[in-house]
Amino acid sequence: MADDNSLKGDSVNSSDYSMPFALEPHWYFDPAIYRAEAKAVYSNNWLCAGHQSELQNPGDYVRLDFCDDTVLVVCGADNEVRGFFNVCQHRGHILVDDRRGQFKDKILCPYHAWGYELNGSLKSVPNLKQVPGFPIHEIRLPPVKVEKYGSFYWVNLNLDAKPIREALPGLDEAIRTHIPDVDRAVFFEGNSTSLPINWKTQVDNAIDTYHFKFSGSAHRQLSNSMHFDQFERETHGKWLVEWGLPAPDAVGGPYDFDPSASRGKVDGFSIIWVYPDLQIVGMAGTRTFMTYRTTPFGPERTVLDYAYAGAPEALGSPTARAAIDWMNGPLSDEDNAYTHSVHLGHKSQGFSGSRFVIDEALSRFSEHPGEAFHKMLYKEVKPYLE
Ligand code: FES
Ligand SMILES: [Fe+2]
Repeated sequence: MADDNSLKGDSVNSSDYSMPFALEPHWYFDPAIYRAEAKAVYSNNWLCAGHQSELQNPGDYVRLDFCDDTVLVVCGADNEVRGFFNVCQHRGHILVDDRRGQFKDKILCPYHAWGYELNGSLKSVPNLKQVPGFPIHEIRLPPVKVEKYGSFYWVNLNLDAKPIREALPGLDEAIRTHIPDVDRAVFFEGNSTSLPINWKTQVDNAIDTYHFKFSGSAHRQLSNSMHFDQFERETHGKWLVEWGLPAPDAVGGPYDFDPSASRGKVDGFSIIWVYPDLQIVGMAGTRTFMTYRTTPFGPERTVLDYAYAGAPEALGSPTARAAIDWMNGPLSDEDNAYTHSVHLGHKSQGFSGSRFVIDEALSRFSEHPGEAFHKMLYKEVKPYLE
């Protein structure tokens, strides 16, 4: 479907909140939009691969998939962390299926057993003695850019991308402020789910605090357990942070925790969102945080990837367990039902696009982050459609 550029009020460059900008519904299922996003967004932005605790020892790896690409981030024998495509250079088999793990001393392709060093160079090829002149030393897994920032490892397919500190200034300080255990945290566990929706529907939901108080019971549990009237938000270019302190008199909270143990604003409910598809969520009273990616695998296929980490002493604690189960269960179930329904609504002829409600005070209910996401994405993707 072609982009007809009939945007509401042609408002992509306007800050008139009475006519907010929103992507047209076909941006949520059109294969041409998806292909353009793969190039414009996913081949040019910094994507979070994992927490530093997952890549500490030689052989540790994480795999990161998005659109039609799959990459590995690997801690080498020299303890340097590198990234490369997760595709064998023989005939194109995917090298590794697991989301995370540890290589012994090489990366072995399961098809014909080509072996690669942990730095991505080709090391061994069966039957090679019979092939004089085979350029084994010239073959390596194509690299991707990797940087560590805010205690996480990030990848960028664009080898000329500017450093992440310039692309996302201030993010590392915000992570350390709102996730105070991030530097000493250890990886706890992860899981993933695949949903028949567009990835942007999940992002719209992730940066939507309007629905916290007005939707289902798990969301009301969350908003009732914090000082929602003092909920704060800061937007910073390609990232934002929002947080609320636990309410000392909270009843019926999402899980059992001691609100008085809160360390001020650094230990509340915190959400850090990073364009295009990452959330880092601090769960009050747990010394635990979640990284959550909502990644496209097609115009109408999204994988939700959850990873939990936290202070070493919180690993296995009943409070952390209850919080993780609540995030994986009731809260995600509600959100996934909303986003699936919204995806169906986007495909109906009876819907012409979101109508964001943006108040003058840019309050905790205001949907200006949603509009900002739509504008940012539109400006990146539009040149790839022409
Ligand atoms: S495709 Fe990997 S060894 Fe053949
Ligand atoms: Fe939600």
